[in-house]
Amino acid sequence: MTGLLGQPTVALATAPTPLQPAPNLSAELGVEIWFKRDDLIGFGLGGNKVRLLEYLLGDAVAQGCDCLITGAGAQSNWAMLAALAARHQGLATHLVFYGDPVPATGNLLLAELAGARITFTGDPDRASVDGAIATLAGQLQQAGHRPCALPRGGATPVGALGYVRASVELAEQLLVTGLRPRQLWLPTGACGTQAGLVAGAGWLRLPHQVIGVTASRPVDSCVEQITALVEGTRSLLGSTSDGTVEVTVLDGFIGPGYGVRSPEGEAAAEFVARREGVFLDPVFGAKAMAALVDTVRATDRSAGPVVFLVTGGAPTLFSVGGAL
Ligand SMILES: Cc1ncc(COP(=O)(O)O)c(C=O)c1O
Repeated sequence: MTGLLGQPTVALATAPTPLQPAPNLSAELGVEIWFKRDDLIGFGLGGNKVRLLEYLLGDAVAQGCDCLITGAGAQSNWAMLAALAARHQGLATHLVFYGDPVPATGNLLLAELAGARITFTGDPDRASVDGAIATLAGQLQQAGHRPCALPRGGATPVGALGYVRASVELAEQLLVTGLRPRQLWLPTGACGTQAGLVAGAGWLRLPHQVIGVTASRPVDSCVEQITALVEGTRSLLGSTSDGTVEVTVLDGFIGPGYGVRSPEGEAAAEFVARREGVFLDPVFGAKAMAALVDTVRATDRSAGPVVFLVTGGAPTLFSVGGAL
């Protein structure tokens, strides 16, 4: 199937996802806030990675791949959704996780349910996954398979097209609602989601600023990665003349570490659950919301209207013994 942007896709999402006001949060902060509910995307338990996977799997299927290999941590939303989406398209799936085997809760439980073949690197270093993916891809190729190896987080220009597509969807919703946000906030990890939103906003000439909140890597590395992904995405779109790439990533809200709950994040998530009926995940959404709350309270009550992208990650709410 060829998608809106002329690239091969597979259909996973139920879109558009809701764009809805958050009245109690808005009243609390004194700024108009809306939620874009990609947690309700209608595949698996939802989440932003579904949009990336529509393009990544479209590409894999178009190339005739018969299996998918990727990896991350055992509680990765990305890895679980990649396994689920690949199996849905009839591809065998292999997941490589760093560290040693852990009890199957949260995303690991769901990845098993999705039928993924799972191995652990035995090395606590997150980067140990990258070499293991390449090794496994080589072995599968030698055994006569046509593997598609995807990096952690699905952070490639092809994946980022999912959020260019989401930008088109959002632009249509903004037209219908008459909402004119000044800022679009989201949590940032491997950077593909923010890159797609930055490329999409530039391509469509949307005036809002895209503000990412890093949940894992240092800001410099995010900016470098997002800039490279935006350039790659622009060339896939055939629109290399969209001007300089402006990337805003905020730091200071990772808390005790990647994948570890932060007190500020938990307080923000508690408010949003109790007053808006929306569950934010502890690894990404809760920390980005803590950053938004802090920024509005400390400095910027003129930020609104704000759209906050709810990126899913519900399975980590149920992981035992930490989010990763
Ligand atoms: C729930 C959730 N939100 C946000 C992100 C960050 O997205 P990206 O890795 O594209 O920056 C992730 C990444 O895994 C995620 O699982």
